[in-house]
Parts: sequence; structure tokens; C-alpha cells
Amino acid sequence: MVKLLYLGHSCFILSNGKESLILDPHINGNPGAKGLDPQKIAVDYVLVSHAHADHLGDAVEICEHSDAILVSTFEVGNLCRSKGVSKIHTGHIGGRVNFPFGYLRFTPALHGAGVAGGLACGFYLNFYNTGIYFAGDTALFSDMKLLAQLEDIDFALLPIGDNFTMGPADAAIAVDMLRPKVVIPMHYNTFELIQQDPLQFKNHVEAQGSSRVEIMDPGDELELDIKK
Ligand code: NI
Ligand code: MN
Repeated sequence: MVKLLYLGHSCFILSNGKESLILDPHINGNPGAKGLDPQKIAVDYVLVSHAHADHLGDAVEICEHSDAILVSTFEVGNLCRSKGVSKIHTGHIGGRVNFPFGYLRFTPALHGAGVAGGLACGFYLNFYNTGIYFAGDTALFSDMKLLAQLEDIDFALLPIGDNFTMGPADAAIAVDMLRPKVVIPMHYNTFELIQQDPLQFKNHVEAQGSSRVEIMDPGDELELDIKK
């Protein structure tokens, strides 16, 4: 069974009990991950959507201590290499790559990379046959429709915080394009500028169509059962 653990902001750990990966490992300074020691996080992969501090976070430390492979764009990968990470897989937007867990696709994101010459990205994951779209930090863009054409999206992890990313109204339009079974809002209520009411988002999305919204509190774990 594939499980998703939410650590607040845009940080999630995806695991099937044998293999695991962390998405945007912002631990230190993330109120949702308070008390967690990055050195005690053992994962096989560390996925980083862009180099802003609330996403790159503690990636370097986690890689050092868990011997994980860092997966990101070429520019962010090089930044991590310069900080001492040795096991790195870099790719770029549009690229698909196979891993023991299934495969991953680097998806576009309309956002800054946080590193010169780079682009922010999101990830589509086929993780043990569960399809997960992690949008990263992004504005709404109409090519989300293409992703829904290319891949089966069971779970969509979408930012709703506004100010730096999509807000709830735009994210609801994204849901309409992506048509996931389940939507999990992220990147909200971590700090003052991104305060949102996830319940309002849930009601709006569930009234407009067939996607269900799962609001996860930091520390919550969800079984990603696509049959439910
Ligand atoms: Ni950002
Ligand atoms: Mn951010």
C-alpha cells in the first residue's frame, strides 16, 4: 500500500513500505515539521521542484545522511552538487525517467527557479502504479490539460496559498483540467502571506465536479488507495 505523509507546506513523504521519497524537504523552519530532525529522515530519493528555501530546504543534509538520490532540474542539481551532494539525477521539463518505483516526469511550473538560468518544475510520479501529480510552486496554466491527456492522475497535490502560487479559485480551475480522483491542497497557512481556508476550497471543488478533496494536517498520513 502506497502511503503519503504530509509534513506541512509542500513537504510530503511517499512510501510503499520498502521504498520512499521526500518531496520538497523543507524541515527546518517549517512549522508543520517542527521537532523533526532532517538527519533522522531516511528516504531513497529527494525530489526538489526549485531552489527557493521553502522547497530545497534540508535536501542536502537529508541526502548526506540517508545516501538518497537527489532528483531535480539540471541547474538545481548542480547547485546541490556544489553543496556536496554526490548522488544526483538531473532532468528537465518534459523528460520522463524510469526508476525502480515506476517513473517520473518533470512537469512545467510557472515560478522562479531560485537559481540562475533555471526553471521551476513539478513532478508527475508513477509510484508503484499510483499516479501522483505534485505541482510544486506554480501559477495556473492551461497546459495542465496536456498532462491530464498524457498521464493518469489519481492524486493531485496543488498549491492554494496565493501570493506566490495559484490561489484557491485558480487551483479549482486546475482541478477541472487535471481531473484527478483526489486533490490534496498544499503551500498554505505556513506563513502570513499564504493564509487560506482549505475547507472553502474543498467545498468549491467538490461542488464543481467529481474530484474529492482530502485536507491533510501536518503529520497526517493517507493511504493512496485508488479504488476508494
Ligand atoms: Ni517558490
Ligand atoms: Mn514556495
